[in-house]
Amino acid sequence: MSRATVVGAGMTEFGPHDRPLEELFADAAFASIDDAGATLDEIDAFYFGNALGGQAEGDTHLAPKLATHVGLQGIPCQRFEDACATSSNAFKHAVQAVESGVHDVALVGGVERCTPETGLGTGEMTEIFASAAHRQYEQPAGLTFPGVFALLAKRHMHEYGTTEAQLAEVAVKNHHHGRYNPNAHFGRDATVEEVLESPTVADPFHLMDCCPFSDGASAVVVVADDLAENFAGEPVSVAGVGHSTDAVPLADKASLTETRAARDAAAEAYAQADVTPDDVDFAEVHDCFTGAEVLAIEALGFFEDGTGGRAAAEGRTYLDGDIPVNPSGGLKAKGHPIGATGTAQIVELTGQLRGDAGRRQVEGAATGVAHNLGGDAATTVVTVMEART
Ligand code: COA
Repeated sequence: MSRATVVGAGMTEFGPHDRPLEELFADAAFASIDDAGATLDEIDAFYFGNALGGQAEGDTHLAPKLATHVGLQGIPCQRFEDACATSSNAFKHAVQAVESGVHDVALVGGVERCTPETGLGTGEMTEIFASAAHRQYEQPAGLTFPGVFALLAKRHMHEYGTTEAQLAEVAVKNHHHGRYNPNAHFGRDATVEEVLESPTVADPFHLMDCCPFSDGASAVVVVADDLAENFAGEPVSVAGVGHSTDAVPLADKASLTETRAARDAAAEAYAQADVTPDDVDFAEVHDCFTGAEVLAIEALGFFEDGTGGRAAAEGRTYLDGDIPVNPSGGLKAKGHPIGATGTAQIVELTGQLRGDAGRRQVEGAATGVAHNLGGDAATTVVTVMEART
């Protein structure tokens, strides 16, 4: 089987954008196509992620609309929706199509607008996001996503003694990394005191423990390994992609702290890539809330269960730590335009593994992992990428 390779990557700045989805996505798509040194007629499939266009923008059937806008009409175009794991699922399907020989060159990407530029405020957007929670058991109770992850984090605190100050350290670290990312929504430092003194959103999370609502787009060009040399963009190998799901609602999960889907997806991706957590040089993880990063770094096997909060407080996940986590600033500081987040993680892995990440470069990065989670820790896609030697 031929492996898949990323030869082009691009994204917009994350933050408020007042332009329509088509225009926003085109910026990322053309950036990735230019980076690959590809032409439009070389692309033979389009895999696309958008989660909320129907509800937030009254805009559906987006894959062919966006393909038309960038001049790709006439090829197979498909849209994926998997809550926050939307475009990593699109990426997985593109990788499989390329590996199986169904397509040679695929454009994969995502776009979303979640800020008040949509005309919708925090309350309305929170309600739209909550449509990913269980319709019969969670939505009627008023459960929103800050609430979902607050319940998971509270359980972690109860089981392992994780503290609010340790969670705040995750936010401080990701804001610090975000300073070095010109595409970040919040490129500024923060302090533990600032996090702990910011208003409570859902106990134990303060405003500064939360990712923001962001607009943005990201895209990558995925090609069959044996075609990579035909493109100008420096190739980065996709060594493994694991995908799993866990029970919805939260009440049906066997454990609130283990994030089972992440463990299963990681095991699958690590097996495909023939690596262990010790081989991983850095990771982009789904830190929609600080507590989610603690759960992710344990599920990925970087730290023993129950020790993720302490590891964050000890600085072990900083750029110069044992295992740098979220060198991009993560969802917390880079931002979280839902459907664009998964492929934005792949954009960051590509830049890091090419050695092109500037001030936030992880020294000697050869193997990177992306962890993208959707809904109430239900869908998770884990990707392992490797620099070509
Ligand atoms: N991190 C850091 N700063 C933030 C922020 C965040 N997440 N969200 C807003 N801010 C800043 C704003 O820039 C603004 O700063 P300013 O006063 O200097 O301009 C200030 O905080 C207030 O912003 P505002 O947009 O009015 O805040 P809000 O109370 O309406 O919303 C949250 C804040 C945290 C409630 C909102 O961002 C949120 O719900 N985030 C989670 C989104 C989510 O659930 N995503 C899905 C994950 S699964």
